[in-house]
Amino acid sequence: MSIRLGDDAPNFTAQTTEGEINFHEWLGQDWGVLFSHPKDYTPVCTTELGMAARLKPEFDKRGVKIIGLSVDPLDSHAGWAKDIEEAQGAKVNFPMIADADKRVSDLYDMIHPNASDTFTVRSVFIIGADKKIKLMLTYPASAGRNFDEILRVIDSLQLTAKHSVATPVNWKDGDDCIIIPAVSDEDAKEKFPKGWTAIKPYLRVTPQPNK
Ligand code: BEZ
Repeated sequence: MSIRLGDDAPNFTAQTTEGEINFHEWLGQDWGVLFSHPKDYTPVCTTELGMAARLKPEFDKRGVKIIGLSVDPLDSHAGWAKDIEEAQGAKVNFPMIADADKRVSDLYDMIHPNASDTFTVRSVFIIGADKKIKLMLTYPASAGRNFDEILRVIDSLQLTAKHSVATPVNWKDGDDCIIIPAVSDEDAKEKFPKGWTAIKPYLRVTPQPNK
């Protein structure tokens, strides 16, 4: 099944290292990041999971739950988690889905047969509190993801959700934002009391509203 931005995040029940979950119930009112790993006991994934565990407090601060997935069974995940702790100095502190029957991988289109018909690619789905898909990333197995970028884009998505702003190239938390074109100058006066600079009539730059 193909998934597009703005779609409802498909719900599922699955076995995880923290027990069986119903995905939507597990998310509750929080945002979520669902990310896949090609295979257990693989080197790049080991570094990614260590990093995700270290960054968990940053996801918590933003009200975001994280959950990994790989197409191996639970006992394999449990053994690999020990390795990750040894190798990365970080205990995996979020659930990992054991998707041995590839049910969730298929639901989220994480297996790209021309890359591999057995392993998932490195997918990232960011899901809003409204359970809609806000962002998707797809990496090949050989390239580890940048979890700082995932946090950066969550900051951008959450700003857009609360204020009528977009974020420019290479934006990071604290930088100036862009007033979205749908907001008229008249409405912007009320929404952005700090004012803005109009570099072009369609490019209006304002200080980050929540700072
Ligand atoms: C890895 O996670 O290291 C990996 C997995 C599959 C293919 C290549 C690398």
